[in-house]
Amino acid sequence: MSLLGRLPTHVEVYEVGPRDGLQNELRSLATADKARLIEALIAAGEKRIEVSSFVSPRWIPQLSDAEKLLQVLPKRDDVSFTALVPNLKGLERASAAGLKEAAVFLSVTESHSKKNINKSVAEAVAAAREVAQGARAAGMRVRCYLSTVWGCPYEGLVPVTRVVEVVKQIVDIGLYQLSLGDTIGIGTPNQTAEIVQEVSKLLPIDQVALHLHDTRGTALANALVGLQLGVTTFDSSIGGLGGCPYAPGAAGNLATEDLVFMLHGMGIQTGIDLQKLVEAGELAQELIGRKLSGKYLQAALGEREKQASRARAVAE
Ligand code: HMG
Ligand code: MG
Repeated sequence: MSLLGRLPTHVEVYEVGPRDGLQNELRSLATADKARLIEALIAAGEKRIEVSSFVSPRWIPQLSDAEKLLQVLPKRDDVSFTALVPNLKGLERASAAGLKEAAVFLSVTESHSKKNINKSVAEAVAAAREVAQGARAAGMRVRCYLSTVWGCPYEGLVPVTRVVEVVKQIVDIGLYQLSLGDTIGIGTPNQTAEIVQEVSKLLPIDQVALHLHDTRGTALANALVGLQLGVTTFDSSIGGLGGCPYAPGAAGNLATEDLVFMLHGMGIQTGIDLQKLVEAGELAQELIGRKLSGKYLQAALGEREKQASRARAVAE
């Protein structure tokens, strides 16, 4: 056992950059550019990638090309693609596009639920159940997201009792994994410990994932608490792309490179090549047209620039 307690030896990284990241960008990327980014993530060894959303194109126009994107993505048995599916219409689209996994999503707070999907929490639970049932009948796996678990942009801090109430309502919908979302990146480690402990009384810990946003710099601290409590799946986004358009201030998922750097440093395997992840992050920056917030990415690119300028100085 390490000084930090019993830690997993392997962690699964669930990449959300192409979905959670790109849904939040004002500029929509061309389908071919999204495909290039996803191919770079696969080249880095990523195996689980949320590539888009089958939501209303009026609500999220940036991801309205989900069908077109899935047509051009490489088909590989060792990589699983997934997408958000809010209702039966979305499920029909996802299934026709050949997806083998659907991600349903709902919030634990009423105001975020209304803003995000125009439904009350009870209506959202019913929709998730209906989509999950249809997806399983179509041979798809079902992942479920819970948003605003740590805090809500409209209602503030969320009591863990509220989280437990909603988890109890969705735990039997047929999900293989429940991803707990710190939608606005407001969580602190003690709160994370309490949430993970309470949720793990309702479903096995190997079915719990953490979806942390790094808005206030606490995502890795919360991930470490998750690791110590047995969580082995973490959602992250290349370069720290991301947020939620209906959660003001929710900028930036936990950056994949930051997570992978920490895990590898702790001797925890991910199957991902960090150097190639940096290349994917660099491509993401180039496509988005701005510097991304991922700290490892900026450190690696800064170091490379320093080495290049030293080499130029020697050559002169
Ligand atoms: P609505 O307007 O209430 O829906 O939206 P509606 O059922 O009344 O339909 C309105 C129109 O949308 C109709 O078209 C439907 O056919 C169409 P019209 O007849 O007017 O021409 N429509 C669709 N079109 C394509 N695909 C569909 C679909 N559904 C309806 N699936 C709805 C309700 C849920 C559709 C809408 O609110 C929506 O799409 N919301 C998605 C918002 C979203 O994607 N938010 C971001 C993702 S959540 C997140 O980021 C959090 C997460 O990362 C975890 C965390 O951080 O916490 C997951
Ligand atoms: Mg998110």
